[in-house]
Amino acid sequence: KSRWAMAGQEHRCRRIVLFPLPFQGHISPMLQLAELLHARGLAVTVLHTGFNAPDATRHPELTFVPIHESSFPDEVTSLGTDIVTQLLALNAACEAPFREALASLLRGGQDVACAVVDGQCYSALRAAHRLGVPALVLRTDSAATFSSMLAYPRLRDAGFVPVKEERLDEPVPDLERLRARDLIRVDGSDTDALCGFIARVADAVRASASGVVINTFERMEASELAKIQRELSRPAFAVGPLHLLSQAPAEQSLHAPDRGCLAWLDDHPPRSVLYVSLGSVACVDRGAFVEMAWGLARSGVSFLWVVRPGLVGGVPEVPPLPDGFSEEVRNRGKIVSWAPQREVLAHAATAAFWTHCGWNSTLESVCEGVPMLVQPCFADQMVNARYVTHEWGVGLEVGEEIERGRVAMAVTKLMTGEDAAQMRGRAYHLKILASAATSLPIDSLIHYISSL
Ligand code: UDX
Repeated sequence: KSRWAMAGQEHRCRRIVLFPLPFQGHISPMLQLAELLHARGLAVTVLHTGFNAPDATRHPELTFVPIHESSFPDEVTSLGTDIVTQLLALNAACEAPFREALASLLRGGQDVACAVVDGQCYSALRAAHRLGVPALVLRTDSAATFSSMLAYPRLRDAGFVPVKEERLDEPVPDLERLRARDLIRVDGSDTDALCGFIARVADAVRASASGVVINTFERMEASELAKIQRELSRPAFAVGPLHLLSQAPAEQSLHAPDRGCLAWLDDHPPRSVLYVSLGSVACVDRGAFVEMAWGLARSGVSFLWVVRPGLVGGVPEVPPLPDGFSEEVRNRGKIVSWAPQREVLAHAATAAFWTHCGWNSTLESVCEGVPMLVQPCFADQMVNARYVTHEWGVGLEVGEEIERGRVAMAVTKLMTGEDAAQMRGRAYHLKILASAATSLPIDSLIHYISSL
């Protein structure tokens, strides 16, 4: 029996070093993992950037150490930069300060058992490996997404990507659940840059990672997980849904949520409200925003809509609503700039979720049995949306073109249409599977770390 399996002081002094990327959808799952590791007797240090630093006061049991990056270039910090440019710049800016921070822990005599770094941060993975620290990556996206990333270089060599217009509806070779149009894409970003970024992530995992930790659960993505293990010949731990399993506080937001919307939901009948949010970084153009608004108005349903700074065109203010909209929806629409999302999804009044399909949002919705209207904007959201609608059958597409008439139709179909009850049934079934997920994979992960 591993000494790690026993509680006590002896292994409390062994330390795991975690490094999240400084975005909402990445910080939350990493801190949830931190809580789970700590609860099993490990000491945890979270290295983090000064930019978007996590709130250490919410996690007194963890040690937080800033990596002292010199100030990030504008590509990292400004809203509206495309995500590939942002991630390449982040990797470049984090490598040396991360290495220095980790080296300093080692010099200080810390017994670092391993590092778990964000799956998109190939530079930190490489740095840990070079310092002789066994390193794993935490994928904050789905197993299907990661599997598609591993396949990307192959697809490019075979001439399948960049995808040609006429092939968009073809199934992807070896990833038959996806069509070409569902592959990771970032509109406006150069395809070579995207392919280059994905290749670096995949190459670094192959060269430097001792394993992969994924925020998903076996019964939702069994075949994708098996495929990853086969392809990498090293373990993949499906430790999710992390937010359900960990004791981490529900609110780890970089923004203060407007809790007033919970009281507003209390005043609504069960399963009557559509929750609308496109996550923390996606943005739409003004035209699409206006169509979303009037589509909601036309649908006639009650809705809670997160209209946050940066949602429209990357402009850092809260975008103004279209003229006349507030009056039109006065009695059935609530707008907030940031919601306590997990509580909203768990609320009895919430019937459905219009989402960009960021992986955290998708998992949170799955765990509450809430059907989705999907509007993927970029990156892994394409893959998630396809799985939501076609693999798990718990959602509908809002459509490529956001137009008020179509929006209203899709909303009505999701909330009250013929298929709505069936979709809710499948969502409920998936919720049951999610709630049956156990922390056994975390135990296996800890056992594995002790063997490294
Ligand atoms: C980004 C990418 O967009 C996503 O595709 C990737 O999988 C992770 O990184 P983000 O856009 O932030 O994520 O979306 P998502 O993964 O859904 O995470 C958003 C988080 O913010 C969720 O945990 C959600 O609960 C929270 N949130 C969002 C709030 O608490 N309140 C809000 O009003 C909106």
